[in-house]
Amino acid sequence: MRVSDVAKPFAARLNDIEPFRVVEVLERAKQLESQGRDIIHMEIGEPDFPTVEAIVKAGQASLSRGDTRYCPAAGIMPLRKAIARFYQTDYGLEIDPERIIVTPGASGALLLIAALLVNPGDGMLMTDPGYPCNRHFLRLVEGEGQLVPVGPEDCFQLHAAKAEEYWRDNTVGAMVASPANPTGEVLTAQQLLDLFELCEQKNGHLVVDEIYHGLRYDEQASSILSITDQAFVINSFSKYFGMTGWRLGWIVAPKEAVPELEKLAQNLFISVSTFSQYAALAAFEPEVRAVLNLRRDEFARRRDYLLSELKRLGFDIPHQPAGAFYIYAGITKFSNDSQAFCLQLLEEHGIAITPGLDFGSHLSHQHVRFAYTTSMERLQQAVARLENVLV
Ligand SMILES: Cc1ncc(COP(=O)(O)O)c(C=O)c1O
Repeated sequence: MRVSDVAKPFAARLNDIEPFRVVEVLERAKQLESQGRDIIHMEIGEPDFPTVEAIVKAGQASLSRGDTRYCPAAGIMPLRKAIARFYQTDYGLEIDPERIIVTPGASGALLLIAALLVNPGDGMLMTDPGYPCNRHFLRLVEGEGQLVPVGPEDCFQLHAAKAEEYWRDNTVGAMVASPANPTGEVLTAQQLLDLFELCEQKNGHLVVDEIYHGLRYDEQASSILSITDQAFVINSFSKYFGMTGWRLGWIVAPKEAVPELEKLAQNLFISVSTFSQYAALAAFEPEVRAVLNLRRDEFARRRDYLLSELKRLGFDIPHQPAGAFYIYAGITKFSNDSQAFCLQLLEEHGIAITPGLDFGSHLSHQHVRFAYTTSMERLQQAVARLENVLV
């Protein structure tokens, strides 16, 4: 074997694709744990509850039946129909199952949509702070995420007026998440409508990531689907349904886009995991939904507790996050360097949270994200530790 010490170059796009810092926090936390330290994990955007047993059993039954082969690229029809029924029962909406494409997580959905909508050199508007992978998906297809700085004055969401201000000649649409990561903030029906009308006026597309819809605590979240059938909706089995590792999500697309998305899915993935899809059918059973709704209520209890405690300790949280399982907290009372602040909390006090830098550059040194994806007891311990350090 010939060994060379001259490194061959990788593609230039890799210079623009940053690692997920939260994964680095997680790795360091695991290292400290292996040295015997007790770490409270509030960095992970993943429910701490295991997948509901009935779903696991349905997955096992599917494997035992021999569902070990490829399936249609758009997903198995029983699941597409089950998702359509979910829109009927939960939103009162009639959605044609043919408009639903099952994907490998919302991540797979985002990749398909980037490939569908974005030419090299095109851009899509997205919030800063926002879910960091979005701009990387666009970079992958030689487009760009056009970051719109949003802050407490906009409830960290993209509204039509600001979208209009930031719209450029190469902008082909806007991508929003409601509730959003890292802030848990939502867009109202009127705000979604205004954004959609702006996109129409500019002949652009609107993509709404509804992955945290099931985790809305005060009232039901408005879906763009109740306003128009011309926007793209992304959702997932990862968060409310508690199936992160099963890698399942979906898109609801305008009818004309479906054959193109199917063509892309055939090429990029061939199909989504077949047995995961049969497992997911069980997620819509009333008994399973009842368990999921109890879990959602538990997340709401955690949010209420953590929000009031963090405010009491001096974190700046001007607006109550309405959904997801995150609190995006201002730290200016304690530090102007979120990275150093998080590192110190981890190394010295065993609390793992995510620096704002993971989600963009706007106000990112002054913010950190707390994920309340751990038990109430652990949250109480975290608050006690924070109290010792900060007060
Ligand atoms: C806003 C948002 N969209 C998409 C995803 C991707 O989720 P998944 O691929 O697990 O469905 C995440 C994960 O944290 C997210 O926060």
